[in-house]
This record gives sequence, C-alpha cells and structure tokens, in this order.
Amino acid sequence: MKYRKLGNTGIEISALGFGCMRFPLKEDSTIDKEKVRELIKYAVENGINYIDTALTYHNGTNEKVLGEVLKEEGLRDKIYLGTKLPVWKAENEEHLEQIFEDQLASLQTDYLDLCFLHNMDYGNWETAKRLNVLDLFDRKIKEGKIRHIGFSCHGDFNNFKEICDAYNWEFCLLQFNYMDYDYQAGIAGVEYAAEKGLGLMIMEPLKGGQLAKQPPESVQKIWDRANKERSAARWGLAYLYNKAEVSCVLSGMNDMDMLKENIETAEMYDIGCLSEEELALYPEVKAEYEKLIKIPCTRCQYCIPCPMDVDIPANFEYYNMGHMYNSIESSRNFYNRPYFLTRKSTRCIGCGVCIEKCPQHLNIPEYLKMISDDWAK
Ligand SMILES: NC(=O)c1ccc[n+]([C@@H]2O[C@H](COP(=O)([O-])OP(=O)(O)OC[C@H]3O[C@@H](n4cnc5c(N)ncnc54)[C@H](OP(=O)(O)O)[C@@H]3O)[C@@H](O)[C@H]2O)c1
Repeated sequence: MKYRKLGNTGIEISALGFGCMRFPLKEDSTIDKEKVRELIKYAVENGINYIDTALTYHNGTNEKVLGEVLKEEGLRDKIYLGTKLPVWKAENEEHLEQIFEDQLASLQTDYLDLCFLHNMDYGNWETAKRLNVLDLFDRKIKEGKIRHIGFSCHGDFNNFKEICDAYNWEFCLLQFNYMDYDYQAGIAGVEYAAEKGLGLMIMEPLKGGQLAKQPPESVQKIWDRANKERSAARWGLAYLYNKAEVSCVLSGMNDMDMLKENIETAEMYDIGCLSEEELALYPEVKAEYEKLIKIPCTRCQYCIPCPMDVDIPANFEYYNMGHMYNSIESSRNFYNRPYFLTRKSTRCIGCGVCIEKCPQHLNIPEYLKMISDDWAK
C-alpha cells in the first residue's frame, strides 16, 4: 500500500480508504456482518489504515456494526477511524452533542481520529452555523474526543470555499472523479483545498459504481487506444491517484474481488503515473458519455420548487445516468424506491410552470411523461 500525507495532520494515510457506505447486505437488507468482518480484516491486513463511516448509512446501523467488528477483531488501534456528524438530524445544540456522544458509543471508541461535518451544502451549512457546531468541535477537541476535524461537501464551489474559509479545518471530503470534473466543487474545489493545505479525501471516485461498469462500446473504443489492459474501475481510480492534491481515495467495496482489485490499483498508481496520452483520453471519454445523455438538463435547479413537489433535476439525473452508464436497471430501482415516491415524475400534472422557469426551455412535462412511461412501476 502507498501512503500520503493528510494535509498537516501528521497522518500518513493509505492512498485507498475503506468507505463503509456500501457494506454488503443480507437478503433482508440488513448489513451482512460476517462479510463485513472478512472485508475489514483483509483491508487492514493489506495496508488500508483509514475506515470511513457515518451515522446515516444503513438506517443508522453502520457505525454499530463497524464498532462491533473493530472491537471483536482488536482492530481499533490499527486504523484511523472517521465518522460524520449530521447536523440536519439535531433539534438543538444539546441534541447535536448527544448525537455525537452516541456515535462514539456505537463505534465503541473514546475518540475519533477524523470527525467530519457531514454532507455540507448551502442548507446544511446554515444549520451547522445555527447550532454552533464549530464551538462543539472546539470543545470535543479539548476533551480529546476528536483528533482531527474536517467536512464533507456536496455544494458548489462557492459554498465549498465559504466553508473552507470559516474554520481551521484540516481536511475535506469531495465528490470527484473524471465525470464530475466540473460538478459540485469540482476541480476548482480540488485545487482550492490544496492551496489551503487541506488534506483532500475523495468520495464517489467511481461515481458510486457507474464508472466501474463495462462502458458502452463507443467509450471502450477510446480507452482501447491506450493499448492497456485496464478495467473501467482502474481507469477511474488511476485518474485520482495521478493527482498530487489527493490524499486518500475512499471507495465503497462490498466484495472481496473489488477490494483486492482496488488495493492492487492503489499499489500500482501514484502521483504523475499517467502519460500525457492517457490523460488526454479522460475528457474524450467524458464527452462520449455525455453524448448518451437523453435529457439536456444542466441541473441549474431553476425549475424547482414544482407545485407538485416533483424533484425535476433528480428525475432527469436518474434517467440520464441509467442511459449513460449501462445501468438502467439500478437507476430505475433507485427512481422507484419508496423514499422518492412523492417526488417522482408520475406526480407531474402538466401545469407547465417549470417550462417558463427553465433557461434551456426544455419541455419538462414531456420529459417527465417519458420517464413515467418508461420507468414507473
Ligand atoms: N460524506 C458524504 O456525503 C459521502 C457521500 C458519499 C460517499 N461517502 C463516503 O465515500 C465512500 C466512497 O464513495 P462510494 O462508495 O460512492 O465509492 P465508489 O467507489 O464511487 O462506489 C462504490 C461502488 O463502486 C463499485 N466498485 C468499486 N470498486 C470496484 C471494482 N474494482 N470493480 C467493480 N466495481 C467496483 C461497486 O458498485 P456495485 O456495488 O454497484 O457493484 C461499489 O459499491 C463511501 O463508501 C462513503 O464512506 C461520503
């Protein structure tokens, strides 16, 4: 395993971190603890020294299962452990502190090596400020319950920059991969984090698995020009290991084959590993994937709120991703999950309010009908 500096924390972190958001599940959709045990043991034995969880993964059960496995296998002291504080779950400051203490209890640990302010965007950042979360962090650092502090962010670059500049953070976690080059904080965020000396961790390096699937033929043809035997997952991860700004790439690995391949990949690729010719293929691949987009929505969100509460950008995103990444079945399942029921395309009554608001002048009700006809159960 290769190790990199996590900003100025003094931590030498494994280039590949274990993201727990994709833990293997049993048939009843609960976490398969025995499989998790095998994966975590193998990961640690093979040099992964950072494990990343959050309260909200798997309906609040993720930290508990991880805590049990770390305790039972005597692994707590062999790794850096990180979890995330979800401000949106707190009713007030006391409740937020209680949530933090409960997280430590679930993880069966007295301290976190890394604590993240979870899932920042404009709304959650306002909540964090209202709940004085930065004071809470200062207190918990003094009490020895947090060693290093950072945040994860899904907001745009301006939101990311504002948060970066608001506190003495030591690291941050961004969604970044070659398709998300200019999405959320994007490359501007990556560069700003480096400029500020923050350790940079990457989430969704394979876009949650979309970039690991067998690509469409037109995309594969571009990769083939490099004459390298390289899986789609490996192309995706190599892109990140190549970057000096990146400290640690988190991947969610739910079976042993993935874990082994990703460990091997982390050992093979390092800063500056890709040639100019190889690097030139990524924007071409991105453009090729983008040609497969069915609905030319730019996700500006001008169309919402919809009077019927349809989450128009999310409906379009699922549909586009399904068509782009050979993943229609999983995108359709995502669209049909109960949580999305009140926001899906079938709620559209065709009022057309959104058409006037859309800067691209898309006929949104027609597109929503297309999705409903194609995908609604
Ligand atoms: N803070 C936040 O807001 C936030 C948000 C997202 C993630 N995270 C953290 O970041 C971590 C990483 O994000 P992620 O889980 O989305 O990572 P990811 O690596 O982009 O996606 C993981 C998925 O990619 C596929 N995969 C990974 N390696 C593969 C391989 N070698 N071959 C084939 N498929 C492979 C699997 O998909 P299939 O299971 O479909 O086969 C796996 O479930 C999370 O686990 C979590 O800890 C944090």
